Amino acid sequence: MPLTHTRELFSKALKGKYALGAFNVNNMELLQAIVEACEEEKAPVMLQISKGARQYANPVYLKKLIEAAVSVTTIPIAVHLDHGDSFELCKECIDEGFTSVMIDASHETFEKNVEVCRKVVDYAHKHNCVVEGELGMLVGAQHDDGEEGGGYSKGGCYTHPDEAVDFVRKSGVDSLAVAIGNSHGAYKFKGEQHLDLERLKAIKKALLEAGLGDYPLVLHGASSVPKDLAQEINKYGGKMGEDTAGVPEADIEIARRVGCTKVNIDTDLRMAMTAAIRKVLMENPKEFDPRKYLAPARTKVKELVRHKLRNVLCCAGHAFD
Ligand code: G3H
Ligand code: 13P
Ligand code: ZN
Repeated sequence: MPLTHTRELFSKALKGKYALGAFNVNNMELLQAIVEACEEEKAPVMLQISKGARQYANPVYLKKLIEAAVSVTTIPIAVHLDHGDSFELCKECIDEGFTSVMIDASHETFEKNVEVCRKVVDYAHKHNCVVEGELGMLVGAQHDDGEEGGGYSKGGCYTHPDEAVDFVRKSGVDSLAVAIGNSHGAYKFKGEQHLDLERLKAIKKALLEAGLGDYPLVLHGASSVPKDLAQEINKYGGKMGEDTAGVPEADIEIARRVGCTKVNIDTDLRMAMTAAIRKVLMENPKEFDPRKYLAPARTKVKELVRHKLRNVLCCAGHAFD
Protein backbone atom coordinates (compact mmCIF):
# COMPACT_ATOMS: atom_id res chain seq x y z
CA MET A 1 0.00 0.00 0.00
CA PRO A 2 1.40 3.48 -0.89
CA LEU A 3 1.45 6.50 1.41
CA THR A 4 -1.89 8.18 1.90
CA HIS A 5 -1.95 11.88 1.12
CA THR A 6 -2.15 14.32 4.03
CA ARG A 7 -4.94 16.11 2.15
CA GLU A 8 -7.07 12.95 2.25
CA LEU A 9 -6.37 12.31 5.94
CA PHE A 10 -7.32 15.91 6.80
CA SER A 11 -10.52 15.83 4.83
CA LYS A 12 -11.65 12.57 6.46
CA ALA A 13 -10.65 13.77 9.93
CA LEU A 14 -12.61 16.99 9.52
CA LYS A 15 -15.65 15.06 8.34
CA GLY A 16 -15.35 12.46 11.10
CA LYS A 17 -14.59 15.08 13.79
CA TYR A 18 -11.54 13.30 15.11
CA ALA A 19 -7.90 14.40 15.34
CA LEU A 20 -4.94 12.84 13.62
CA GLY A 21 -2.00 11.90 15.78
CA ALA A 22 1.20 13.35 14.32
CA PHE A 23 3.93 11.41 16.06
CA ASN A 24 7.63 12.16 15.70
CA VAL A 25 9.87 9.34 14.51
CA ASN A 26 13.63 9.09 14.83
CA ASN A 27 14.34 5.37 14.85
CA MET A 28 12.94 1.93 14.09
CA GLU A 29 11.50 1.14 17.52
CA LEU A 30 9.48 4.37 17.73
CA LEU A 31 8.19 3.82 14.22
CA GLN A 32 7.20 0.22 14.91
CA ALA A 33 5.50 1.19 18.16
CA ILE A 34 3.42 3.91 16.49
CA VAL A 35 2.46 1.88 13.45
CA GLU A 36 1.60 -1.27 15.45
CA ALA A 37 -0.54 0.80 17.82
CA CYS A 38 -2.37 2.38 14.88
CA GLU A 39 -2.81 -1.00 13.22
CA GLU A 40 -4.34 -2.46 16.39
CA GLU A 41 -6.55 0.57 16.93
CA LYS A 42 -7.40 0.89 13.23
CA ALA A 43 -6.33 4.52 13.21
CA PRO A 44 -4.91 6.67 10.41
CA VAL A 45 -1.62 8.32 11.29
CA MET A 46 0.83 11.06 10.38
CA LEU A 47 4.48 10.23 10.87
CA GLN A 48 6.52 13.36 11.26
CA ILE A 49 10.20 13.88 10.81
CA SER A 50 12.12 16.87 12.10
CA LYS A 51 15.34 18.31 10.76
CA GLY A 52 17.05 16.81 13.82
CA ALA A 53 15.58 13.38 13.07
CA ARG A 54 16.96 13.58 9.53
CA GLN A 55 20.36 14.51 10.89
CA TYR A 56 20.26 11.73 13.50
CA ALA A 57 18.99 8.83 11.42
CA ASN A 58 19.90 9.87 7.85
CA PRO A 59 16.99 10.78 5.51
CA VAL A 60 17.50 7.64 3.42
CA TYR A 61 17.21 5.33 6.45
CA LEU A 62 14.06 7.11 7.57
CA LYS A 63 12.53 6.94 4.12
CA LYS A 64 13.28 3.21 3.83
CA LEU A 65 12.01 2.52 7.35
CA ILE A 66 8.75 4.26 6.55
CA GLU A 67 8.48 2.39 3.26
CA ALA A 68 8.87 -0.82 5.27
CA ALA A 69 6.19 0.28 7.73
CA VAL A 70 3.82 1.17 4.90
CA SER A 71 4.40 -2.20 3.24
CA VAL A 72 3.57 -4.26 6.35
CA THR A 73 0.42 -2.43 7.34
CA THR A 74 -2.93 -1.56 5.82
CA ILE A 75 -3.58 1.61 7.82
CA PRO A 76 -3.32 5.00 6.04
CA ILE A 77 0.03 6.69 6.70
CA ALA A 78 1.07 10.21 5.68
CA VAL A 79 4.61 11.59 6.02
CA HIS A 80 5.19 15.12 7.18
CA LEU A 81 8.22 17.39 7.68
CA ASP A 82 8.02 18.82 11.20
CA HIS A 83 9.29 22.39 11.76
CA GLY A 84 10.96 22.90 8.38
CA ASP A 85 13.17 25.95 8.84
CA SER A 86 13.99 26.83 5.24
CA PHE A 87 12.64 26.66 1.71
CA GLU A 88 15.55 24.37 0.81
CA LEU A 89 14.72 21.79 3.50
CA CYS A 90 11.03 21.84 2.53
CA LYS A 91 11.94 21.42 -1.14
CA GLU A 92 14.19 18.48 -0.30
CA CYS A 93 11.34 16.73 1.53
CA ILE A 94 8.78 17.56 -1.16
CA ASP A 95 11.15 16.10 -3.76
CA GLU A 96 11.51 12.97 -1.60
CA GLY A 97 7.76 12.44 -1.67
CA PHE A 98 6.62 13.76 1.72
CA THR A 99 2.85 14.31 1.59
CA SER A 100 3.09 17.50 3.64
CA VAL A 101 5.68 19.88 5.03
CA MET A 102 5.66 22.47 7.76
CA ILE A 103 7.48 25.72 7.14
CA ASP A 104 7.98 27.34 10.51
CA ALA A 105 8.69 31.03 10.13
CA SER A 106 6.61 31.92 13.18
CA HIS A 107 9.55 33.78 14.74
CA GLU A 108 9.61 36.20 11.78
CA THR A 109 7.42 39.27 11.26
CA PHE A 110 3.93 38.62 9.89
CA GLU A 111 4.98 39.85 6.44
CA LYS A 112 8.16 37.75 6.34
CA ASN A 113 6.27 34.69 7.61
CA VAL A 114 3.74 35.14 4.77
CA GLU A 115 6.52 35.55 2.21
CA VAL A 116 8.45 32.44 3.30
CA CYS A 117 5.28 30.32 3.47
CA ARG A 118 4.06 31.55 0.08
CA LYS A 119 7.31 30.44 -1.55
CA VAL A 120 7.00 26.93 -0.07
CA VAL A 121 3.28 26.74 -0.92
CA ASP A 122 3.93 27.67 -4.56
CA TYR A 123 6.50 24.91 -4.91
CA ALA A 124 4.59 22.33 -2.86
CA HIS A 125 1.30 22.78 -4.69
CA LYS A 126 3.02 22.18 -8.03
CA HIS A 127 4.39 18.91 -6.62
CA ASN A 128 1.30 17.41 -4.98
CA CYS A 129 2.27 18.37 -1.44
CA VAL A 130 0.43 20.44 1.17
CA VAL A 131 1.87 22.94 3.62
CA GLU A 132 1.45 23.75 7.32
CA GLY A 133 2.34 27.24 8.49
CA GLU A 134 2.44 28.67 12.00
CA LEU A 135 1.24 31.99 13.31
CA GLY A 136 1.97 33.11 16.86
CA MET A 137 4.77 31.78 18.99
CA LEU A 138 4.68 28.84 21.35
CA VAL A 139 5.84 30.12 24.69
CA GLY A 140 4.20 27.92 27.28
CA ALA A 141 2.75 29.71 30.24
CA GLN A 142 3.49 33.16 28.87
CA HIS A 143 0.52 35.31 27.95
CA ASP A 144 0.18 38.02 25.36
CA ASP A 145 1.98 41.25 26.13
CA GLY A 146 -0.53 43.58 27.63
CA GLU A 147 -3.40 41.15 27.40
CA GLU A 148 -5.98 41.58 30.08
CA GLY A 149 -9.37 40.10 30.77
CA GLY A 150 -9.25 37.67 27.88
CA GLY A 151 -8.86 40.30 25.13
CA TYR A 152 -6.60 39.75 22.18
CA SER A 153 -3.33 41.56 21.83
CA LYS A 154 -1.98 41.80 18.33
CA GLY A 155 1.51 42.33 19.64
CA GLY A 156 1.52 39.15 21.70
CA CYS A 157 2.64 35.61 21.15
CA TYR A 158 -0.76 33.93 20.97
CA THR A 159 -2.47 33.56 17.60
CA HIS A 160 -4.96 36.33 16.88
CA PRO A 161 -8.13 35.16 15.07
CA ASP A 162 -8.27 38.04 12.54
CA GLU A 163 -4.57 37.73 11.80
CA ALA A 164 -5.03 34.00 11.26
CA VAL A 165 -7.56 34.72 8.51
CA ASP A 166 -5.29 37.27 6.88
CA PHE A 167 -2.31 34.92 7.17
CA VAL A 168 -4.07 31.93 5.61
CA ARG A 169 -5.38 34.07 2.74
CA LYS A 170 -2.04 35.69 1.98
CA SER A 171 0.25 32.68 2.46
CA GLY A 172 -2.01 30.01 0.96
CA VAL A 173 -1.06 27.45 3.63
CA ASP A 174 -3.29 24.40 3.84
CA SER A 175 -3.26 24.07 7.63
CA LEU A 176 -2.31 26.38 10.47
CA ALA A 177 -0.42 25.70 13.70
CA VAL A 178 -1.75 27.94 16.45
CA ALA A 179 -0.30 29.28 19.68
CA ILE A 180 -2.93 29.04 22.40
CA GLY A 181 -0.78 28.34 25.46
CA ASN A 182 0.82 25.19 24.08
CA SER A 183 4.60 24.77 24.06
CA HIS A 184 7.19 22.12 23.34
CA GLY A 185 8.89 19.76 25.75
CA ALA A 186 8.42 18.45 29.28
CA TYR A 187 8.20 21.76 31.14
CA LYS A 188 5.24 23.45 29.52
CA PHE A 189 3.29 24.70 32.47
CA LYS A 190 3.74 25.45 36.13
CA GLY A 191 1.11 23.64 38.17
CA GLU A 192 -2.39 23.31 36.80
CA GLN A 193 -2.75 25.36 33.62
CA HIS A 194 -4.85 25.11 30.53
CA LEU A 195 -4.96 25.88 26.84
CA ASP A 196 -6.81 29.00 25.77
CA LEU A 197 -9.67 27.07 24.24
CA GLU A 198 -11.85 30.17 23.80
CA ARG A 199 -9.16 31.57 21.53
CA LEU A 200 -9.07 28.33 19.59
CA LYS A 201 -12.84 28.54 19.08
CA ALA A 202 -12.51 32.17 17.96
CA ILE A 203 -9.79 31.27 15.43
CA LYS A 204 -11.86 28.44 13.99
CA LYS A 205 -14.95 30.66 13.80
CA ALA A 206 -13.07 33.54 12.15
CA LEU A 207 -11.72 31.20 9.46
CA LEU A 208 -15.17 29.75 8.83
CA GLU A 209 -16.84 33.16 8.65
CA ALA A 210 -14.16 34.37 6.27
CA GLY A 211 -15.18 31.66 3.82
CA LEU A 212 -12.18 29.41 4.44
CA GLY A 213 -14.40 26.50 5.42
CA ASP A 214 -13.77 23.91 8.10
CA TYR A 215 -10.11 24.84 8.12
CA PRO A 216 -7.61 22.38 9.66
CA LEU A 217 -5.79 23.70 12.73
CA VAL A 218 -2.72 22.10 14.26
CA LEU A 219 -1.77 21.78 17.91
CA HIS A 220 1.97 21.53 18.53
CA GLY A 221 3.43 20.62 21.89
CA ALA A 222 0.49 18.33 22.67
CA SER A 223 2.30 16.06 25.09
CA SER A 224 0.62 15.68 28.44
CA VAL A 225 3.86 14.83 30.23
CA PRO A 226 2.29 12.11 32.39
CA LYS A 227 3.33 12.31 36.03
CA ASP A 228 3.63 8.53 36.28
CA LEU A 229 6.21 8.48 33.51
CA ALA A 230 8.23 11.28 35.12
CA GLN A 231 8.08 9.39 38.43
CA GLU A 232 9.16 6.14 36.78
CA ILE A 233 12.08 7.84 35.06
CA ASN A 234 13.16 9.32 38.40
CA LYS A 235 12.60 6.05 40.28
CA TYR A 236 15.12 4.40 37.97
CA GLY A 237 17.83 7.01 38.25
CA GLY A 238 16.51 9.85 36.12
CA LYS A 239 16.35 13.47 37.17
CA MET A 240 13.32 15.05 35.59
CA GLY A 241 12.38 18.18 37.52
CA GLU A 242 9.42 18.22 39.88
CA ASP A 243 7.85 20.93 37.74
CA THR A 244 7.33 18.81 34.62
CA ALA A 245 3.83 19.50 33.36
CA GLY A 246 2.07 19.18 30.05
CA VAL A 247 -1.25 19.94 28.41
CA PRO A 248 -4.07 18.15 30.25
CA GLU A 249 -5.49 15.41 28.04
CA ALA A 250 -8.98 16.75 28.69
CA ASP A 251 -7.92 20.05 27.06
CA ILE A 252 -6.65 18.22 23.99
CA GLU A 253 -9.88 16.31 23.78
CA ILE A 254 -11.79 19.61 23.78
CA ALA A 255 -9.35 21.09 21.25
CA ARG A 256 -10.14 18.14 19.01
CA ARG A 257 -13.86 18.83 19.25
CA VAL A 258 -13.33 22.52 18.56
CA GLY A 259 -11.36 21.71 15.43
CA CYS A 260 -7.72 20.80 15.96
CA THR A 261 -7.24 18.28 13.19
CA LYS A 262 -3.56 17.46 13.71
CA VAL A 263 -2.11 16.96 17.17
CA ASN A 264 1.68 16.77 17.49
CA ILE A 265 3.13 14.46 20.13
CA ASP A 266 6.81 13.78 20.72
CA THR A 267 7.84 14.31 24.37
CA ASP A 268 5.42 11.72 25.79
CA LEU A 269 6.88 9.07 23.46
CA ARG A 270 10.40 10.00 24.50
CA MET A 271 9.42 9.72 28.16
CA ALA A 272 7.78 6.31 27.71
CA MET A 273 10.82 5.00 25.91
CA THR A 274 13.24 6.40 28.50
CA ALA A 275 11.22 5.08 31.45
CA ALA A 276 11.23 1.54 30.05
CA ILE A 277 14.93 1.56 29.18
CA ARG A 278 15.91 2.94 32.59
CA LYS A 279 13.83 0.30 34.36
CA VAL A 280 15.43 -2.61 32.52
CA LEU A 281 18.96 -1.31 32.98
CA MET A 282 18.51 -0.46 36.67
CA GLU A 283 16.90 -3.81 37.46
CA ASN A 284 19.36 -5.77 35.31
CA PRO A 285 22.71 -4.00 35.54
CA LYS A 286 24.43 -6.89 33.81
CA GLU A 287 22.25 -6.60 30.72
CA PHE A 288 23.98 -5.43 27.56
CA ASP A 289 21.82 -6.79 24.74
CA PRO A 290 20.01 -3.71 23.30
CA ARG A 291 17.04 -5.86 22.32
CA LYS A 292 16.39 -6.55 26.00
CA TYR A 293 15.69 -2.89 26.72
CA LEU A 294 14.51 -1.69 23.31
CA ALA A 295 11.72 -4.28 23.11
CA PRO A 296 10.09 -3.18 26.42
CA ALA A 297 10.64 0.43 25.35
CA ARG A 298 8.79 -0.25 22.12
CA THR A 299 5.95 -1.92 24.01
CA LYS A 300 5.61 1.02 26.40
CA VAL A 301 5.49 3.55 23.57
CA LYS A 302 2.90 1.42 21.81
CA GLU A 303 0.66 1.34 24.91
CA LEU A 304 0.91 5.10 25.22
CA VAL A 305 0.06 5.66 21.55
CA ARG A 306 -2.93 3.30 21.80
CA HIS A 307 -4.23 5.32 24.73
CA LYS A 308 -3.88 8.60 22.82
CA LEU A 309 -5.62 7.21 19.74
CA ARG A 310 -8.53 5.84 21.72
CA ASN A 311 -9.07 8.32 24.52
CA VAL A 312 -7.62 11.65 23.41
CA LEU A 313 -7.62 11.93 19.63
CA CYS A 314 -10.64 9.68 19.08
CA CYS A 315 -9.29 8.51 15.73
CA ALA A 316 -9.36 4.82 16.66
CA GLY A 317 -11.58 2.85 14.30
CA HIS A 318 -11.39 5.49 11.54
CA ALA A 319 -8.61 4.01 9.39
CA PHE A 320 -10.94 2.70 6.72
CA ASP A 321 -13.72 5.32 6.73
O1 G3H B 1 8.73 20.08 18.05
C1 G3H B 1 9.79 19.50 17.86
C2 G3H B 1 9.82 18.02 17.86
O2 G3H B 1 9.62 17.53 19.15
C3 G3H B 1 11.08 17.52 17.23
O3 G3H B 1 12.15 17.66 18.09
O4 G3H B 1 13.91 18.77 16.75
O5 G3H B 1 14.47 17.40 18.79
O6 G3H B 1 13.71 16.29 16.69
P1 G3H B 1 13.65 17.53 17.54
P1 13P C 1 5.92 17.80 22.34
O1 13P C 1 7.34 17.33 22.27
O2 13P C 1 5.73 18.82 23.36
O3 13P C 1 4.99 16.67 22.35
O4 13P C 1 5.65 18.57 20.94
C1 13P C 1 5.76 17.88 19.73
C2 13P C 1 5.66 18.79 18.59
O5 13P C 1 5.05 19.84 18.63
C3 13P C 1 6.31 18.40 17.35
O6 13P C 1 6.19 19.38 16.37
ZN1 ZN D 1 6.15 21.35 17.19
